[in-house]
Amino acid sequence: MPLGYQPPGRVLVTGGSGFIGRRVVRALLAAGHEVTVADLRASRENPVRNVTGDLCDPEVAARAVTDDTAAIIHLAAVTSVLRSIDDPVHVHMVNVDVTARLLELARENGVGSFLLASTNAVTGNVGQATISERTVPRPLTPYGATKAAGEMLVSAYANCYGITGASLRFSNVYGPGMAEKDSFIPRLMRAARDGEGVQVRGDGTMLRDVVHVDDIVAGIFVAWRSGHTGPLILAGGKSVTVNDMVAAARRVTGRPIPVENVPVGPGEMPAVVVDISAARALGYQPTMDLDTGLATVWPEFDPKGVTV
Ligand SMILES: NC(=O)c1ccc[n+]([C@@H]2O[C@H](COP(=O)([O-])OP(=O)(O)OC[C@H]3O[C@@H](n4cnc5c(N)ncnc54)[C@H](O)[C@@H]3O)[C@@H](O)[C@H]2O)c1
Repeated sequence: MPLGYQPPGRVLVTGGSGFIGRRVVRALLAAGHEVTVADLRASRENPVRNVTGDLCDPEVAARAVTDDTAAIIHLAAVTSVLRSIDDPVHVHMVNVDVTARLLELARENGVGSFLLASTNAVTGNVGQATISERTVPRPLTPYGATKAAGEMLVSAYANCYGITGASLRFSNVYGPGMAEKDSFIPRLMRAARDGEGVQVRGDGTMLRDVVHVDDIVAGIFVAWRSGHTGPLILAGGKSVTVNDMVAAARRVTGRPIPVENVPVGPGEMPAVVVDISAARALGYQPTMDLDTGLATVWPEFDPKGVTV
């Protein structure tokens, strides 16, 4: 992966044992960085400095941010929208209070760069309109609201304390390492494996932006290297319908994956179409088409496959 030159220094990856975090940590190690992983679960990558525990605990957060830290890639979060609706207080604690604490520790320790994993869900329902960094955030869920709040804190710390602070708004990320996830692509893979079908809300013509995890990792490096401050959309940049995803999964797995169309739920966005020209201007170039990308996911689910 051509990730380019990075300034030397230790990088703290919070959530480094999660789906995206594992790929980020591997890429950082491959680029020669010293890495600290702060997560509820220890990272199995080697060599990393593990700080294992709950970042809501101020002592855990303080141990994670050392004075040789050059950058913080903050991925740890409650990532389930449904969980955020069930328990908005907890999601605020993890997604907002921890972000605030890490920013303060970044200030105290002279950390140069802070990259927050945000989401296009900060913008809310814009109908069929294209979402850009200029779209006014109107989040629809506690998850989206906490990410928007995190973005505001990053903005303030960038402005007041000279930290390079980017809020990277990912679309739906997929790729190897999704076995524990419950989003649509792993559901397709499980259905193919088990000879079952999937439920599709509406007629399947809703547009969605999906992006491969390796494109996201490359995008994080691009944002960091460019010194970008402010929100930045990292996505595939070419929306596909839910029916396109089903068709691609059928091609890649060779399984029929029957579809049951069910009613559209409340709050379902009719379309997610994003403009990635700001990231492209910095050098971001998503490369993975859907069929190639799904072929990297299937082996973990395929009983005959190998673990990636
Ligand atoms: N996966 C996506 O499609 C997507 C889309 C948009 C934004 N994001 C954002 O990207 C980031 C990474 O997402 P992911 O899919 O890899 O999620 P993930 O759930 O796979 O990983 C999150 C990691 O954070 C850790 N964590 C959670 N709470 C913690 C706490 N209190 N203390 C320490 N560690 C904690 C978890 O143990 C986990 O390893 C998240 O911030 C998420 O909101 C993801």
